[in-house]
Amino acid sequence: MVDVEPFIEDAVAEIEAEIGDADAVIALSGGVDSSVAAALAYRAIGDRLTPVYVDTGLMRKGETEQIRETFSYMDSLRIVEAQDRFLDSLAGITDPEGKRHAIGEQFIREFEQEARSANAEYLVQGTIYPDRIESEGNIKSHHNVGGLPEAVDFEGIVEPVRDLYKDEVRTVARELELGAVTEERMPFPGPGLAIRVLGEATREKVAVAREACHVVEEETEAHDPWQAFAAVVGKATGVKGDNRVHGWVVSVRSVESRDGMTARAQELPWETLQRIQSRITGENDNVARVVYDVTHKPPATIEYE
Ligand code: XMP
Repeated sequence: MVDVEPFIEDAVAEIEAEIGDADAVIALSGGVDSSVAAALAYRAIGDRLTPVYVDTGLMRKGETEQIRETFSYMDSLRIVEAQDRFLDSLAGITDPEGKRHAIGEQFIREFEQEARSANAEYLVQGTIYPDRIESEGNIKSHHNVGGLPEAVDFEGIVEPVRDLYKDEVRTVARELELGAVTEERMPFPGPGLAIRVLGEATREKVAVAREACHVVEEETEAHDPWQAFAAVVGKATGVKGDNRVHGWVVSVRSVESRDGMTARAQELPWETLQRIQSRITGENDNVARVVYDVTHKPPATIEYE
């Protein structure tokens, strides 16, 4: 286990030495790795670091507010309100890979612009040890958004947590008093809510998925799933008041897993499922039906796209 205080001291000194008098930029994702990397770099070079958080409009409920609060002590924090640009770029795209690609491209465009206006010569990244092992072994690309370092011609890349494991990063986060960021949260995919709505990611579907995911996270918390969420999977008939409606079908998924490679659908109590159903349909008139996904991985994947 990492010796936290000396680690922080050494990391800060190393960043100072590497970046010198230059300016740097980091993409904050809301996750613990980039948060710790940003906090260390900010200690080292202060407002010469521009932490950039891009609100894609595809984030979980309350996520942007949480970032704003956690990093409010950094005067140079940039929150990019890019919701409309992301959702516009997704218009008409129904293919899952096409959606991922559009989001990745838009992210690079947004980040590139911020890096240029900050005159950043250095890129700070929250790469951790398992990321390096995986990408060296070519198991998967560890960045949700590939191509970031290539898009802007940086003088150097600084990775202050490159030798740490996840639990060590979390220990450092607690020492740095990073608040909610230090809590163990469920994995959340890089393309966000866009892959929790089947087909075109419209504003309406994304809004339904956001509220439904929030309900599922709250209601399943006591059962400690590895990952739990909701997805908008289609439309079906329902009755609201005296009217037949053609509303959204929301699928609820709660799984147990060790590493996401395989997973088991969780046996949730009927009362929990009914409370989820009642809250999701009650909070949104356009949801006609809530179903529970009982499929393990394999044969299903955890996410729907
Ligand atoms: P699947 O759906 O492949 O997911 O069974 C396994 C784990 O990976 C997450 N996931 C992603 N994470 N970018 C990410 O950062 C992605 O595009 C992506 N797709 C799936 C998923 O949430 C689960 O934890």
